[in-house]
Amino acid sequence: MCGIVGYVGDKQAAPFLLDGMSKLEYRGYDSAGIAVYNKGKITIEKCVGRLADLRIKIKGHEPKGTVGIGHTRWATHGRPSDRNAHPHADESGQFVVVHNGIIENYLKLKEDLQAKGHKFLSETDTEVVAHLLADQYDGDFESTVKKVLRMIEGSYSFVFMCAKEPDKLICTKKDNPLIIGLGEGENFIASDIPAIIAHTRRTYIMSDGEIATVTKDGVWVQNIDGVPITKKVYEVTWNAEAAEKGGFQHFMLKEIYEQPKAIRDTMTGRVGKKEGEITFHELNWTKDAFADIHKIYIVACGTAYHAGIVGKYYLEKFARIPVEVDIASEFRYRDPLVDSHTLMIVISQSGETSDTLAALREAKRLGARTLAVTNVVGSSISREAQQVVYTYAGPEIAVASTKAYTTQLIVMLMLAIYVGNLRGTLDKTLAKQLTQDLKKIPEQLHSMLENVDQIKVFATQYGSCEDAFFLGRSLDYAVALEGALKLKEISYIHAEAYAAGELKHGTLALIVEGVPVIVLATQADVYPKTISNLKEVKAREAIVIAIALEGDHDIDKVADNVIYIPKTGKYLAPLLAVLPLQLLAYYAALTRGCDVDKPRNLAKSVTVE
Ligand code: G6P
Repeated sequence: MCGIVGYVGDKQAAPFLLDGMSKLEYRGYDSAGIAVYNKGKITIEKCVGRLADLRIKIKGHEPKGTVGIGHTRWATHGRPSDRNAHPHADESGQFVVVHNGIIENYLKLKEDLQAKGHKFLSETDTEVVAHLLADQYDGDFESTVKKVLRMIEGSYSFVFMCAKEPDKLICTKKDNPLIIGLGEGENFIASDIPAIIAHTRRTYIMSDGEIATVTKDGVWVQNIDGVPITKKVYEVTWNAEAAEKGGFQHFMLKEIYEQPKAIRDTMTGRVGKKEGEITFHELNWTKDAFADIHKIYIVACGTAYHAGIVGKYYLEKFARIPVEVDIASEFRYRDPLVDSHTLMIVISQSGETSDTLAALREAKRLGARTLAVTNVVGSSISREAQQVVYTYAGPEIAVASTKAYTTQLIVMLMLAIYVGNLRGTLDKTLAKQLTQDLKKIPEQLHSMLENVDQIKVFATQYGSCEDAFFLGRSLDYAVALEGALKLKEISYIHAEAYAAGELKHGTLALIVEGVPVIVLATQADVYPKTISNLKEVKAREAIVIAIALEGDHDIDKVADNVIYIPKTGKYLAPLLAVLPLQLLAYYAALTRGCDVDKPRNLAKSVTVE
């Protein structure tokens, strides 16, 4: 998730680029850069840090010129640094590129280019593309771009510049957003509407596979085979604030809707082309790597801790290694039993949570092997752990975590399959089933997101309650914990999650007439027991909203309301079951007039104890 911009016109490019980038900083902000063409040469200015740091760096000597591109980065390949900041160029400086996305086959392409003598300056996947353009240049910029696009695999939106054909920018996209703003004697390119809204409201929304050549006088769109495409002008009616949230009322809702893409990105290149297999190039573990690991610790805070609980189920089931899950602030003060036979996995969206970082340091001090699962490349936790697996959720802005959680679940599931395969503890048929089911998840989430009216109704009906309970067994219990946290943090309704079997040991005393109880019943092996617990709360006249798998026609006879999720395997159900809980919390908070993105007393990243 990065922000990209481009300008061709009569005016100076740099002011538009910097202003446009400032409107896209919510997409990424670990480094920034611009490239501007002037008199046969493209000048690149870039640096690590926020856009403000770039502004300071170039103050008084902004590159002059009327054609340029810019980028705010959210690192995926290579930590945030001056060198890894975009734009990237080939050695001659003639071909320059900005990119949002992931190029899956960049390592192979890079090796081939290095063998031909190309020298690389950065650790990014993107730099490969600039070298490829130079390598493949056939005297025609457009045809060279098409050749290069045929060579790369992955997801992207790109803007390309070429000093040999400086009157134009070429842009294209696949699985990442890209728009073109239509001006008078000038045209604009951006990854998102906020960047251009101050200049024009007339836009082309680019579709996958379309390639646009943009000059100051016009925009020509074609596909990779050269077939011209006629685009419809889309008039933007949003105001600037709505545009930043992609038209959604809150970042939280936007992030909930981004989950299919975030999950797809996190699986890219990892969920094997071969069924049943998972690849983690960044780990490259062997069977022997686990021979001396006797225990796994998963340590985290908040939502990440809940992802860890799900991870325990996965790892114990597939890898058959004992797993302990701990809250970071508890772990660090209780003299944990950790030694060189322990693998410590810390999970943290931000990579900066101080308790999680301290727990990681403590585990290292005690000699454990350490692995971080985080969303922020270059974060403290990613730097201090021995190994890192990134979630590719993109920046998460709302305090309540949604897409970070589901991508953490995906990583924990992939990790468990990976280790289970290595150790030979995971049944091959089950492994195949799991990867087949995994691939369906983005589409299943997408279909659920198209049909949320029922959830809105429940949220309005029960939004005024003061207490709510979440029950489930097995993986459903782990998801219940996250559902209750979402509800309390943004709607301020007192919510508690219980393992359904534990209900009788105290909580049942709190179940009275009219209290909403959300019962998760997606786990076939414990289903009859969950239904018994459901009946126990019904007998106390609670109102039950059940979350069940499509095709379950028994549950609607006992629950007051049922939210169905698409049919999936037992282990994948948490990924789908959490979505209605996120939406229930969101719409309940709206009903109560809460500040959804910035709930009272809470912070996105807790960097103090
Ligand atoms: C804060 C946030 C939570 C998050 C927790 C852990 O409490 O509000 O949403 O789950 O920190 O954050 P981390 O960045 O380590 O995942």
